[in-house]
Amino acid sequence: MLTRIQDLAEKLAPRLIEIRRHIHAHPELSAQEQKTAAFVAGVLSSSGVRVTETVGKTGVVAEVQGNGTDARLLAIRTDMDALPIEERTGLEYASREPGIMHACGHDVHTTVGLGTAMILAQLASELPGNVRLLFQPAEEIAQGASWMIADGVMDKVSAILSLHVFPSISAGSIGVRYGALTAAADDLEIEIIGESGHGARPHEAIDAIWIASQVITNLQQAISRTQNPLRPVVLSIGQINGGRAPNIIADRVKLLGTVRSLHPETRDNLPSWITKIVSSVCDNYGARYHINYRPGVPSVQNDLALSQLVQTAAEEAFGSDRVLVLTEPSLGAEDFSMYLEHSPGMMFRLGVGYKERALNYPLHHPLFDVDESAIITGVVTMAYSAYRYWQHGK
Ligand code: NI
Repeated sequence: MLTRIQDLAEKLAPRLIEIRRHIHAHPELSAQEQKTAAFVAGVLSSSGVRVTETVGKTGVVAEVQGNGTDARLLAIRTDMDALPIEERTGLEYASREPGIMHACGHDVHTTVGLGTAMILAQLASELPGNVRLLFQPAEEIAQGASWMIADGVMDKVSAILSLHVFPSISAGSIGVRYGALTAAADDLEIEIIGESGHGARPHEAIDAIWIASQVITNLQQAISRTQNPLRPVVLSIGQINGGRAPNIIADRVKLLGTVRSLHPETRDNLPSWITKIVSSVCDNYGARYHINYRPGVPSVQNDLALSQLVQTAAEEAFGSDRVLVLTEPSLGAEDFSMYLEHSPGMMFRLGVGYKERALNYPLHHPLFDVDESAIITGVVTMAYSAYRYWQHGK
């Protein structure tokens, strides 16, 4: 079966590269993936795969029916949205949409999903169970997974697989991580309310800008002294708004930030931990405050048995030197974690770096580029892992 999957993938390679270039040249922002979705649905229908459109707003779902000897349903998820970045690669298939770019590799993910669907459709009678392929919108704004789930895509799913490109791994290799892969990402908004006054007479005012600076400093120091260093917390304030003129003491400052963590118990304690620090600083200097802590996506926790399944499948396909077991998670975030509240799942990292280049630009960079040979690596890993899923008996 592995050789057949590899042969089918090799044959599909030129078409898949064409597909990827088309998607790359026509990127669409989160929740606006209408043309991409129509293109995906067209490719699937012409390959004889059953398709449902407008699932999760602009998402697409494809079903491959196996021979029905096993009731377990496997889902495979890819995402389709691009980023508000002006592409500067100068490639002939570079983005034709000003200010929009597939700088996170979701064009590759979508293509791998399509290639996997085409191959599994050809092998359908030999698949014990059914496969549901999810082409998700709006991953970059961490909404698409929830929309898809609300439309029932996780009903009856027993396991879910996904992938994300990774430029620091060379094309031809994949990365497997057991357990935590990405972090929980929550939004933080703190408003400090002081008392306005003349810049020359600070003692008659309550300076919200100075107090905000104390809040930031205290939060950063408190992380290093009161959070378990083996259970990482990253708090980044990315935006400060406040003040009206150089000689007026500001009465209001708003701080906006992101809070990342890996362990659920750590995460649960963060809102009260932040409140304690902000309130103690504000109380000291007579300021008031509002805190709005909005939970975002949880951490992606890869299922151990499914990680083993993907590792073994990829090792058989490419050899063990091309399968890296990753020792560290990332503090990035992924809304794939939303699916994992409904079934066990696993996301692997697909190497897309050029071996011969000293520098492969990171994700979300205007010069981000992928070695397209990785598409076949992704398709073979996904299709063969799917095939083996019913064999591995969980
Ligand atoms: Ni991404």
